[in-house]
Amino acid sequence: MEERKWFKEMSMYQIWPRSFKDGNGDGIGDLKGVMSKLDYIKSLGVDAIWFSPLYVSPQADYGYDIADYCDINPEYGTLDEFKEVLKAAHERGMKVIMDLVINHTSDQHEWFKKSVKREEPFTDFYIWRDGKGKNGKKPPNNWMSTFPGSAWEYVPERGQYYLHLYAKEQPDLNHDNPTVREYIKKVMRFWLDMGVDGFREDVITQISKAEGLPNGFPLMPASRGMEHYNNGPHIHEYLKEYRQVLKDYDAFQVGEAPLLTPEKALTYVEGDDKELDMCIGFQHMEADCILIGWVKTPFSLKKLKKVYDKWQTMLYHKGWNANYLENHDQPRTISRYGSEKYRVESGKALAIMYSFLSGTQFVYQGQEIGMTCPYFDKYPEGTDPWAQFEDVSTFCVRDLMRKFGFSQKHILKVAHTAARDCARTPVQWTAGENAGFSEAKPWYAVNPNYTEVNVEAAEKDEGSLLHFYRKVIALRKQYKDAAVYGRFELHLKNDPHLFVYDKIADDGSKLTVVLNVSDKAVPCKKFAKYIPEGAQEILSVYDNASFAAVTKPYEGKVYYTPTK
Ligand code: GLC
Ligand code: CA
Repeated sequence: MEERKWFKEMSMYQIWPRSFKDGNGDGIGDLKGVMSKLDYIKSLGVDAIWFSPLYVSPQADYGYDIADYCDINPEYGTLDEFKEVLKAAHERGMKVIMDLVINHTSDQHEWFKKSVKREEPFTDFYIWRDGKGKNGKKPPNNWMSTFPGSAWEYVPERGQYYLHLYAKEQPDLNHDNPTVREYIKKVMRFWLDMGVDGFREDVITQISKAEGLPNGFPLMPASRGMEHYNNGPHIHEYLKEYRQVLKDYDAFQVGEAPLLTPEKALTYVEGDDKELDMCIGFQHMEADCILIGWVKTPFSLKKLKKVYDKWQTMLYHKGWNANYLENHDQPRTISRYGSEKYRVESGKALAIMYSFLSGTQFVYQGQEIGMTCPYFDKYPEGTDPWAQFEDVSTFCVRDLMRKFGFSQKHILKVAHTAARDCARTPVQWTAGENAGFSEAKPWYAVNPNYTEVNVEAAEKDEGSLLHFYRKVIALRKQYKDAAVYGRFELHLKNDPHLFVYDKIADDGSKLTVVLNVSDKAVPCKKFAKYIPEGAQEILSVYDNASFAAVTKPYEGKVYYTPTK
């Protein structure tokens, strides 16, 4: 039997603060805005909020470059305001999870500034190396950053290079240094003592680098050297040490883990001495692309099912999954796995698809109303399309693709569903000015479809995706023995359109999910035999409609079969 735990049953709402809701009229999302929407968040039925970084940051990577771990970015508010939000969330029965970004800091962090000057104890806080070649003019090795370009930056003042696996404004911390680890544990305690309930740990499986920093596989155009720092030599040791901090609190950890397989995931999340409660992997986000997202392939449901099947089966009774479809790095799934034409229907099908899988559920701001990726290449007309983009990684990838000879048109087309910008447009609250996000001009382009796609309109429409999400989240809890804890059994593995699975609880009761994840008319006789006799329909993409001879676009249902 699977051990019951609060965080396993949890549905968590992710806030990317800059684009969530502006509360003070400067066009930038903030804590006041969050406060004003807490009841809305609670109304979704979620149990927790994960805040993408709220900390002091020059915003080179929108908060993932932290200049002070123990204070709030003034644009977002104050520490006291944060404490109020924390209290108000707790009063509403919601946990609060903070982003912990400790692979790197900002180059504006005082630790880094002192490290440049070799001030103790900060001299070896970062990964500094002498240059190679004549006069030390060449970087210490051939590693390339994840945001393409060299992973090394030279600092004349110190006369050395520092390593940055992400933007050059994000120097990597040296976790091999025990003092660094002590400082990080202090940061963790600072938030836990305040009452925060856990952490989402950014690229956490990359914090240990191979000794001697050997050259990476030369052909890799980005993340070169990854084989020497992804799941590096001391990763388990360091994570165990950080995990110790949590033992004094009933807190939880979810770790982001690039290039994760279920086999690897188990090395982090299995057993009594596990290091993380669950991992954020990426394989299920690669059903329409290869690896970094910018190499597009047509959406393949077969590929997606294969990934889910593997993860659901391998982690069953051994580890735990983090189930998400969108976040601040993953452009909107309706535009990727669903259909903008059948926005609501495909949004509902996707909601069903991932909500009844075993694991903790994540919902990203705007996902619940079916926000889609903006067409930055199409509007506003007559402007430079690249002026619409903000994200550091977008520009790096664009430049890399240009080097490989791709046309502007092609790059922009791919960017529509690959650029992280497309996940970050302001949340659309109303059909009014600036989508109700702010009284001032928003810091970032609003998707023009806000006149139709917004919270206010969705609240009024009984058939909206928003109301559907509320239902799905509630049903996931109501049928948690099967939905959250049950055993996954996939049918019709090779069907390109149908996603049919059972979730079987320990007592034999089960949920059956039948979905057409396409706009095709699929003969219903293909799946009829998987709907158990006497099963009770508990949810349907199309209201009050039974299956006809062939499916409607994105048609789907969930059935419940009690124990015999
Ligand atoms: C994670 C974050 C992403 C950030 C990167 C570097 O992948 O989700 O937004 O750019 O780490 O911190
Ligand atoms: Ca603001």
